[in-house]
Amino acid sequence: MLVAPSILSADFGKLESEIEAICKANCDLIHVDVMDGHFVPNLTIGPVVVKSVAKVATKPLDIHLMVQNNTFFVDLFAPFKPEYITFHIEEEKHPHRLIQKIKSYGIKAGVVLNPSTNPIVIEYLIEDLDMVLLMSVNPGFGGQTFIPNVIHKAKQLKQIINDKNPNCLIEVDGGVNDKNIQALKNAGVDIVVAGSYVFNNDYQKAIQSLK
Ligand code: DX5
Ligand code: ZN
Repeated sequence: MLVAPSILSADFGKLESEIEAICKANCDLIHVDVMDGHFVPNLTIGPVVVKSVAKVATKPLDIHLMVQNNTFFVDLFAPFKPEYITFHIEEEKHPHRLIQKIKSYGIKAGVVLNPSTNPIVIEYLIEDLDMVLLMSVNPGFGGQTFIPNVIHKAKQLKQIINDKNPNCLIEVDGGVNDKNIQALKNAGVDIVVAGSYVFNNDYQKAIQSLK
């Protein structure tokens, strides 16, 4: 299992040392939650902060856009060379075009599904995707409770992936901890995002327990 700590739960007053600490604690990716106050009722970080994060990070960035106007934000964050940019399918009229745009920057592309979105809606995108991110909370905040029906959804998605593009990874985001990790692994999940579980515990032990 790959582990991507979400820096939303980090102490932003000492962000540099927080990034260094999770990298040292052997995380696989650094999950960056970009919220615009429109698509979700919260406002987080923009390019000024992500530029600094990218400088300090020794692990690749995984940028999760929770915004309206995805194209604008892809252009804004692409220069920091993240490993992944993911965008919400619920907020994009032309997902196929946007996936090609992300890839044209040499960045891996993923789509994100809210808890109520059926994975069948991305059946005809799977062949073009590097990752699908399933939300296991409603996007907007860290520290929320895991919604268990994501386990069934991950199994359903895994079947579509096996059928159409076995290279596409499944990531799950929200309320992940040592209690639900095994069920996620059994369902075929490849990467988990963990915010409060990592940052409220010993970073190294928390990451290790998820792995
Ligand atoms: C929620 C974010 C998540 C969140 C995860 O909108 O996308 O990445 O920070 O935090 P936890 O693990 O605390 O639910
Ligand atoms: Zn996220």
